[in-house]
Amino acid sequence: MSLLATNVGNVKLKNPVLLASGTCGVAAREFSSYFNLSELGGIVTKSLGIRPWVGNPTPRVVEIPNCGILNSIGLQNPGIEYFAKNELPFLTEQNATVVLNVVGETLDEYIQAVDYIKNRISEFSAIELNLSCPNVDGGLDFSQDPKKAFTVVSEIKKITKIPLWAKLSPNITDITVIGKACIDAGVDGLSLINTILGLAINRWTKKPVLPRGVGGYSGPAIKPIALRMVWQTYKQFPKIPIIGIGGIHTTDDAIEFLLCGASCIQVGTANFANPKASIEIINGLKDYLEKNKLSSISEIVGQAHQNKTPVSARH
Ligand code: DHB
Repeated sequence: MSLLATNVGNVKLKNPVLLASGTCGVAAREFSSYFNLSELGGIVTKSLGIRPWVGNPTPRVVEIPNCGILNSIGLQNPGIEYFAKNELPFLTEQNATVVLNVVGETLDEYIQAVDYIKNRISEFSAIELNLSCPNVDGGLDFSQDPKKAFTVVSEIKKITKIPLWAKLSPNITDITVIGKACIDAGVDGLSLINTILGLAINRWTKKPVLPRGVGGYSGPAIKPIALRMVWQTYKQFPKIPIIGIGGIHTTDDAIEFLLCGASCIQVGTANFANPKASIEIINGLKDYLEKNKLSSISEIVGQAHQNKTPVSARH
């Protein structure tokens, strides 16, 4: 078995590198011309609802040079039925590991979407609930109110045996409060973090650039915030698997997340600049294991929380 193989709770992955939701089209089809999708730890689909969503008016993206991007996509997606009929067979044929990201405007919509695929255990390694879209009315509600987070996770746990991850918002005072609500409801993993609310102003029109004013901020600038939230959550709940997300562009970034307590990571904004970033990170992790004579990538998960400072790092 490869040294990079890892378990995220009961979810077995070939390696700890996945493509983040919304950064690889609906289901990474476009990435298959750059590499074989089966080389990845997995792909996470665009958030899919029980019905197609048209998304927000344009412009939808603003670049913040050297820092990342602000987006306001508005959850445009073709709906879960279209996905299951037209995209999933391609992923299966490619031998890709698939995590299905699900979204709803109401509790009932989350339930209906999961209900549609609830028994297809062999086709999905996990379901990731998007509880944290910053770009639609009420999109953050499920991630800012622990009672709502508890309800949606526990209702979904009742209808499917597919492992369930909850993707949480950083737009909150204490992420461990929402994390705890999800854990109490039986979640199998926490995906940390989604985008941070931000704003861009056009100084010529004297107005916000994005149609809703605010957008979701992602990219290298948010990495320290994401690391801090992974750190806090791992410290408080060391047994719950964490999927680290936020400004991961390089192997070094990925290693930092694993050391902080993430069992695996997702590459997001980096995909827009370099579609092969995830593969480069996988190769970099292999090198890291060899150079450090480690026998499994899981050995480093959470290591930054240990008190011992390695001799080589002392000054
Ligand atoms: C969108 C959804 C998200 O969860 C996010 O973090 C950013 C954008 C969207 O589709 O608008």
